[in-house]
Amino acid sequence: MKHRFLVLLSLTLFFGQNIICADAPAVRERININRDWRYLENDPAGVDSALHYFQLKPYLLPCANDFIIFGKKHQRPEGNPGASVAYVKPDFDDSGWRQLNLPHDWAIEGPFNIDYTGSTGKLPYWGIRWYRKTFESVESDAGKQIYLDIDGAMSYASIWCNGQYVGGWPYGYASFRLDLTPYIKVGQKNVLAIRLDNPDDTSRWYPGSGIYRNVWLVKTSPIHVEQWGTFVRNVRINSENAIMEMGVNVENRTEKDVQVELQTSIYLQDENGHPVGEEVSQSVAKNITIQKDSWASTRFQFEVANPKLWDVDTPNCYVVVSRVFKDGQEVDNYKTPFGIREIKFTHDQGFMLNGRKVPIKGVCMHHDLGALGAAFNEVAAERQLRIMKEMGVNAIRTSHNPPAPELVSLCDRMGLMMQLELTDTWQKGKRKNDYNILFDDWNEADMRSMVRHYRNHPSVIMWSIGNEVPDQMTDQGIIIARNLTAYCHDEDPTRPTSLGCNKRDAIFRDIVNQVDIFGLNYFHKTYPLFKEQNPTRRYHASETSSATSSRGEYFFPVTTDVNDSRSGFQLSSYDMTTIGWGCAPEAQFKMNEEYPFMSGEFVWTGFDYLGEPTPYNKDLTNLLNFSDSGELEKARKELEELGKIKTPSRSSYFGIVDLCGFPKDRYYNYKSYWRPDVPTVHILPHWNWEERVGEMTPVHIYTSGDAVELFLNGKSLGRREKVHSYDRLIWDDVRYEPGTLKAIAYKNGQKWAEEVVETTGMPATLQMTPEKTVLRNDGTDLLFIRVAVVDSKGRVVPRSKNHLKFSVSGPAEIVATDNGDATSLLPFQLSEREAYNGLALVILRGRYMEQGKVVLTVESKGLSKQKVVLKVE
Ligand code: GAL
Repeated sequence: MKHRFLVLLSLTLFFGQNIICADAPAVRERININRDWRYLENDPAGVDSALHYFQLKPYLLPCANDFIIFGKKHQRPEGNPGASVAYVKPDFDDSGWRQLNLPHDWAIEGPFNIDYTGSTGKLPYWGIRWYRKTFESVESDAGKQIYLDIDGAMSYASIWCNGQYVGGWPYGYASFRLDLTPYIKVGQKNVLAIRLDNPDDTSRWYPGSGIYRNVWLVKTSPIHVEQWGTFVRNVRINSENAIMEMGVNVENRTEKDVQVELQTSIYLQDENGHPVGEEVSQSVAKNITIQKDSWASTRFQFEVANPKLWDVDTPNCYVVVSRVFKDGQEVDNYKTPFGIREIKFTHDQGFMLNGRKVPIKGVCMHHDLGALGAAFNEVAAERQLRIMKEMGVNAIRTSHNPPAPELVSLCDRMGLMMQLELTDTWQKGKRKNDYNILFDDWNEADMRSMVRHYRNHPSVIMWSIGNEVPDQMTDQGIIIARNLTAYCHDEDPTRPTSLGCNKRDAIFRDIVNQVDIFGLNYFHKTYPLFKEQNPTRRYHASETSSATSSRGEYFFPVTTDVNDSRSGFQLSSYDMTTIGWGCAPEAQFKMNEEYPFMSGEFVWTGFDYLGEPTPYNKDLTNLLNFSDSGELEKARKELEELGKIKTPSRSSYFGIVDLCGFPKDRYYNYKSYWRPDVPTVHILPHWNWEERVGEMTPVHIYTSGDAVELFLNGKSLGRREKVHSYDRLIWDDVRYEPGTLKAIAYKNGQKWAEEVVETTGMPATLQMTPEKTVLRNDGTDLLFIRVAVVDSKGRVVPRSKNHLKFSVSGPAEIVATDNGDATSLLPFQLSEREAYNGLALVILRGRYMEQGKVVLTVESKGLSKQKVVLKVE
């Protein structure tokens, strides 16, 4: 019999004292076990064919402990499922299996296959795969709780320890914990076996595969703070002080009732997540009784004087160090990072942060990291966020699933707000093996665990219970929305829920009343209707724009006709056309200004991502994709002969930056509008059009100024003034002649910014620009190097596609190369590829624990070879 105790304590506050030392001895250990796993790519003998996930469905124990009632109680199966499978046995010889480190996404290794659908990213992510890990337990593990924390495994993970079935979790985006304690052999060798069973056709984008996030062993005393067992929230904030309330759940895994004391110290947190300086507040809760094999919940308040608020420009974070004492001895030490800030969505002014209106300048992001696939890497994720922030982004929507934990911490530290989303489907699926298969059994567990996991993070401003779920139009959908919102509020009463809807008529249904903020995907023109329909309802623009383009491609004549802005499976970067449901960035900016109650926007998408290469996401049975008459004729013939044409596109065109993180022209449109105080002027297209001499070649300009004068070869082509802050300035009547385009932007009558675009010479050499020069040798640090094909004057040659070959000497390896071309089916791991419109990317990793000089060389036929010298330390 489990009981829940709530011990409400009187407020015990001490200010300015430094009684507790934050760096207590390691009563709790969190050990990363990413290194040295064995991996079985296929199962030729069909050894485990009996273990299909549907047969095992009830086995998947939700969590380490049945203390936490994550929704439906999933019973542990009788006996020891899978025990007869050789791979789970501790003495199985896995030396023939491949050795690798996690995080690992098997599918990113390819090979690409043009016959796969666009949603797959043309990569083989499905199948049954096994991972095994041997690790030593130490004598001091005796009497401890040993947990396995998996931040994400794609998908349907089942786990055995020393041949004993432990449990698992099916949703590939969920983070979960299993209790290994009953199975661990203290002081001996232990073996984990993990089986993944990733079905095909699970989503509209590339889901990735494998144990693609971090894995940890957590060792605690039997009396410890439970998983995600703390919650810090504001009670009242003003400039003098912040009164915070905190809840702490402490578990007692012993066979006796115990009494514990909880000492809580609050510190400012540094950028590495560590407490710094003197403690800023403290409280003590004595005599907490916890019955045997149960847990107790303690709630108390603390005060922070002169609080440093978390905000997008000043992302101050604090950390609570909770220390549990039994009989005067410390038995646990648990850190809870948090931030002090106030969030509010209003029905008229939109979103407010710390009492002021902050329009959301958000982007939707899928979870893949481009050429690295879904395998999570904090350095790569931080780079993505940095590129977005530099453009002016202040919010990220983790479409359409729970993120990696480190991403949320990065957003805390970088001042980016977040909307965390549960899923793309409820009971009605969009794909054969979508989340709808799991929905009934797992939605409560998945929803609660996501909220509980992230409810202390200041970056998180709302929970999304779903995206464009077909159930939005059904009566059952109303009940589901009500339940999901209730789970969120139960775990976290401080943040609103939202649901991204794409059916305009959903606003006339009761589903709008089941979430706090109604999310509208697209339909920007209907904002007035929304306001009229319910003037006091709170809305937000959960998804916008969906503009598509390929970096550096321009097709003529410049048109708003979608068919003419396509060619060779690329899309024009003049950004004049959109897919049916989308709109150009400016059209959305206009609505954001006119209807502030919508709170800003989350653009689809910040980065290009693997899968969903709309509009080239189907085998071609139409000829729309060819504007060139020769190509069209060729395609027509091919169609006749084959009945179809194969589409090579494997990644999206929606990104404001390409898959490498290189800006497309749209980037400067967003930057100009989102960062009006930063001098920006950007000219498009490039000016290498030798075949267009004398032809109309429109010039478009994005600027944060209010007027621009354009010059061609020194001659003014006139000055254009903006009418609205979001306008782009267009010169339609420019006849191409080689030379120099120069744009001078003005703001309030003063010169504001200048840009020059020149006709370049032929490719002469290569230019490598590393984003840093020193790599840490921790086996995870990455270094991104931009490679450009340049002419003799060092100018990037816009349409160059020179074949590049890379080699590296010293203690580093090339992890991946890319060029942002959505149609390339060359493996990302290759150390050669073409430049795409002048650019390519190389990603290097330092060898684990090695040090020394690294030389990266790039060669290309006819161009002078280049080297860059780097260091691993
Ligand atoms: C939305 C959807 C996104 C993506 C986008 C493409 O409707 O929510 O996942 O598919 O369309 O425009």
